Amino acid sequence: MIESLIHEQLLQELDREGTVPLSRQVYQVLSQLILSGVLRAGTKLPASRSLAQELGLSRNTVITAYEQLLAEGYVDTRTGSGTFVSQTVPDFDSQVFAAVPRARASSGTPTLSARGQQVMGSAQAAERQWGAFVPGVPDVSLFPHQLWLRLLRRHWRDPQPELLTYAHGPGYYPLREALCAHLRIARSVYCEPEQVIITGGIHQSLAVIALLLGDKGDKAWMEDPGYWGASTVLRTSGMTLEPVAVDEEGLAPTVEQAQQPPRFIFVTPSHQYPLGHVMSLARRRMLLEYARQHAVWIIEDDYDSEFRFGGRPIASLQGLDEHDRVLYLGTFSKTLFPSLRLGFMVVPKNLAQSMALGLSELYREGRLTEQAVLADFIAQGHYAAHIRKMRAVYARRQSLLREVITNHFGADWPLSNQEAGLHLVMHLPIGVDDKALAQAAAEAGIWVRPLSNYYAGTVRTHGLLFGYATVQEEDIAPAFDRLAGLIKKALAEGRREVLFGLNSEQAD
Ligand SMILES: Cc1ncc(COP(=O)(O)O)c(C=O)c1O
Repeated sequence: MIESLIHEQLLQELDREGTVPLSRQVYQVLSQLILSGVLRAGTKLPASRSLAQELGLSRNTVITAYEQLLAEGYVDTRTGSGTFVSQTVPDFDSQVFAAVPRARASSGTPTLSARGQQVMGSAQAAERQWGAFVPGVPDVSLFPHQLWLRLLRRHWRDPQPELLTYAHGPGYYPLREALCAHLRIARSVYCEPEQVIITGGIHQSLAVIALLLGDKGDKAWMEDPGYWGASTVLRTSGMTLEPVAVDEEGLAPTVEQAQQPPRFIFVTPSHQYPLGHVMSLARRRMLLEYARQHAVWIIEDDYDSEFRFGGRPIASLQGLDEHDRVLYLGTFSKTLFPSLRLGFMVVPKNLAQSMALGLSELYREGRLTEQAVLADFIAQGHYAAHIRKMRAVYARRQSLLREVITNHFGADWPLSNQEAGLHLVMHLPIGVDDKALAQAAAEAGIWVRPLSNYYAGTVRTHGLLFGYATVQEEDIAPAFDRLAGLIKKALAEGRREVLFGLNSEQAD
């Protein structure tokens, strides 16, 4: 009975003219019969000689197929008695799991968890990561790749096993040493190399912080407007987020909010993202004192403050902290190139060991060769030189962009702080749908982000974010000229009677 079923199935399915070897075809048919349960555990397969004869195949063809089935665990052989469907192939009728009622019928489409759905619902990263005016990306075309290649070659010429295996703990020591020296001078960060932990960027640093220092449901204050990426990582890592307004001096919690201290406060004090304000000294001292009193962790995201074009240099919040409440985060995504995927945390001394161990346990870090190259790059002075060069490039591009905006919309048009960073915000009156405008711009091949997307709370202002690092000098005016027509049209359609002073609205 079984034998004739096997013969019939093979006769029907074997393609003798085809390109797939016959032994492979026999294997495929038999394994399919086993997986679908037609051939149950313990069923004896026909002897290879008789099967070969019945099918008009060489015996070797059948033996090869049987050997493959044996190697993959579909069948067992018992000396002298033949080949049997293996017991290890699940026989669902008799398996432990068969008794369990099925909770969810599979609909054929993968079902995301509630957490997964939340990530999808708040997803904002743009498909487009290069071109006028993609924000948040540096000019990677000016990265000194020949120099990098030379340093990379040195490490790859005779790669040390220690650099090719897993990283364990805080990362490559010479990089932490070089970085620490740089941060002390450039960012007034108070640190020893032991406090520096190399990560895969700020996103990963945030996940490690939330997972190791926060418990499920702990509250995190987030700047509003603020960086959606940080919100996504913290929320997904189990934190409950509370939007806190920002004003010209930085984070501005209400009295009611201050009465319920959070576990974390996430801030971008040197260059508020996206509005560009610098947190005042008074606000910094107030936050540090509040954090000390209520054992709050302040997460300082210092993502792009190396690019400061004017005004006084702004020291980090971490450098003012005398009570070990600040976790300082940095990234090479803006100073070098994003796909390097390297960043770092500077954490209080008494946390350093456990944070580093947690990072290894959670992510099994690597990228040690890149870390070694980066260490050389910094120690040999190329990092500081590249930042110096790019600062001048970005200052020029920002000023060209301001000029062309002014040409179209006048010198009084409200724009964000001009002293730092890789982007600027052009504010728009209420009534202008910045999301629709950004969509229309994208259709015209220009990439801007609507300011209202950065808000999580009820009050929103409208505007457009322009990145000027991803567009060459000569392309700035032509690209903006194309966009200006769309902005003028949107302004004409918007509610003109609203004054800029009242440029905010209750979100619907
Ligand atoms: C404010 C801010 N923080 C962090 C990041 C991301 O940093 P990383 O690439 O190191 O994850 C960005 C990216 O645009 C950002 O705008």
